[in-house]
Amino acid sequence: MDRRNFLQKATLAGSATGILPSILLNNETETARDKVRIGFIGVGLRGRNHLQQALFRPDVEVNAICDIDSNSVKAALDLIKKAGKKEPALYAKGDEDFLNMVKRDDLDAILIATPWQWHVPMAIAAMKAGKYAAVEVSATVTLQESWDLVDTFEKTGSHCMILENVCYRRDVMAILKMIREGMFGEMTYAHCGYQHDLRGIKFNNGTSNEGTGVEFGEKGFSEAKWRTQHSVDRNGDIYPTHGLGPVAHWMNINRGNKFNYLTSTATKPLGLHKYVVDHGGKDHPNAKVNFKLGDVVTTVIQCHNGENIVIIHDTNSPRPYSLGFRAQGTEGIWMNDGHTIYLEDVSPKKHEAEPDAPYLKKYDHPLWTKYEKEAENAGHGGIDYFVFRGFIEAVKRKVAPPIDVYDAAVWSAISPLSELSIARGSSPVEIPDFTRGKWKTNKPIFGLNDEF
Ligand SMILES: NC(=O)c1ccc[n+]([C@@H]2O[C@H](COP(=O)([O-])OP(=O)(O)OC[C@H]3O[C@@H](n4cnc5c(N)ncnc54)[C@H](O)[C@@H]3O)[C@@H](O)[C@H]2O)c1
Repeated sequence: MDRRNFLQKATLAGSATGILPSILLNNETETARDKVRIGFIGVGLRGRNHLQQALFRPDVEVNAICDIDSNSVKAALDLIKKAGKKEPALYAKGDEDFLNMVKRDDLDAILIATPWQWHVPMAIAAMKAGKYAAVEVSATVTLQESWDLVDTFEKTGSHCMILENVCYRRDVMAILKMIREGMFGEMTYAHCGYQHDLRGIKFNNGTSNEGTGVEFGEKGFSEAKWRTQHSVDRNGDIYPTHGLGPVAHWMNINRGNKFNYLTSTATKPLGLHKYVVDHGGKDHPNAKVNFKLGDVVTTVIQCHNGENIVIIHDTNSPRPYSLGFRAQGTEGIWMNDGHTIYLEDVSPKKHEAEPDAPYLKKYDHPLWTKYEKEAENAGHGGIDYFVFRGFIEAVKRKVAPPIDVYDAAVWSAISPLSELSIARGSSPVEIPDFTRGKWKTNKPIFGLNDEF
């Protein structure tokens, strides 16, 4: 075990890629806002998580909300009242009422947490109205939508951040720090995915939290109203960004590296049909639905700098939750599922993994060290605090968000491109360069300051 070499490597790399104090970034104090005035489009389950974060913060004012569902509106207004904040303007007159909300001149930013197909029309309307847009995952559904988002940013100068909260997971941020400090050598490979049994959510009729309903569409509740239909119509990785976002930062995608092409392969679709039959009987009308989405979809991305990324989409089978992270380079490997790590010449036993916890502690990201307490009340283990904070701090400083429109465009584009690859018998499909060459000179920004 060569601890000397280990320490030397850590110190040298740390000084080269270390964390910038926030003061260096915040050179716009004259024009910075001290309050962000925000409007919400979509205050369903997810929108209300963000709304709660907004209500916790003294530097955020909620001036308007928009939703077409009276239950969502009522639940949001209740939250606002409970927090003792003033009642916001309400936009609830149909699918397009958001167009009226974004015109308000008492809003700096719009947060969008609606079904996927609404994200781009809403983000574009917000950006055209001169507002910062924050959009839930995935940001886009089609390839054209990814281009539309980028084109709108380039025309208007209005920023758009994809709210990929997993980028802020404490362990993946520590691994990012370790990668930047050279602990894994040169990166070659990463593995990730969305492996989450959503069958109960996809057939939730709102009467049970147990996940034993078999209804979706009009008769469904929350995501079952709209998300399940994607599994009827599409076969591809329809939710890639929870895994891919963090990995894209590990691999400097759009910032010195880019995705070149992908191949996708799907298994047969069995899980959703079986679930309906098991819980609703073989004569239930939904037992006749032909689900198109393969139970497990595997996508392999080849990057410009030679790394491979494997992404798994697995939501329709019984399984424990896991985003399946693995980071690998010429000098070591981290495997999240077993919570282990192996670093050559550092780990005590040759070829034997050791627990990752001491490393995750040692390389804890300064954002987490600094704001751990504030994150305690936020969802998904605290990451919801950080993703909302990232957006708000960018709006306050009037700077680009830490996760930008090019990230939103290319991470989300993996969905339609994986569908195309599967439809063509797992053929390679080129992944467009949404930065139009700027990836060659763009420098990494995510996780390089201790504020956002
Ligand atoms: N990042 C995460 O951890 C995370 C977790 C859950 C959901 N999400 C994402 O958040 C988004 C919303 O998911 P959800 O679980 O809140 O779904 P949901 O169905 O509970 O909420 C969506 C809301 O949007 C409203 N809506 C639909 N069309 C509208 C329109 N035209 N104008 C205004 N409002 C409209 C609905 O009435 C509903 O209240 C999705 O993109 C989902 O993938 C992300």
